[in-house]
Amino acid sequence: MYNTQNDPRAFRNALGQFPTGVTVITTLDGGGNRVGMTANSFSSVSLDPMLVLWSIAKTASAYDAFMQAKHFAIHVLSADQESTSQRFSAKDGDRFAGLDCENGHGGVPLLPKFAARFECTLESCYAGGDHDILVGRVEQFAHRDCIPLGFHAGRYINIPDFE
Ligand SMILES: Cc1cc2nc3c(=O)[nH]c(=O)nc-3n(C[C@H](O)[C@H](O)[C@H](O)COP(=O)(O)O)c2cc1C
Repeated sequence: MYNTQNDPRAFRNALGQFPTGVTVITTLDGGGNRVGMTANSFSSVSLDPMLVLWSIAKTASAYDAFMQAKHFAIHVLSADQESTSQRFSAKDGDRFAGLDCENGHGGVPLLPKFAARFECTLESCYAGGDHDILVGRVEQFAHRDCIPLGFHAGRYINIPDFE
């Protein structure tokens, strides 16, 4: 057992024991440019009204765009979309290059592929230490019957097929 207090790496490792899915969250910046980033902090909040949340690091390059945005779209990735997760977390390169996106609620770019997709209007934004917490009201959603991409202890994982 590891019980190291005040050690940021140990804290990260402890958090990493909570397996998650992986999402790509998209919006438009003030100039109408497409913005998107990988995030695994997504969580459900409320069924009625339909609310979800995620948190964004204040250091993220997309931070200013999401702070100004009124709408965003959350794409839960499928098991075969590890490369999409890498593309939307890479430091350089056009994250949208070659992707055939549609315009969703508020004009935000919608990725062609996903396991689930939630088109949101920003409901609230809360301070959360070195992150901000964005709560989205779900305006529209869709999902497909496929295995989602998993993430655990800093690595992508295969979620066993439970069908
Ligand atoms: C699996 C995974 C999950 C991530 N989850 C988050 C998250 O929830 N919030 C966040 O701000 N950044 C998260 N990131 C990091 C962002 O994608 C990050 O902004 C990006 O890796 C660095 O690009 P940037 O310097 O352009 O921001 C995650 C990265 C990966 C690979």
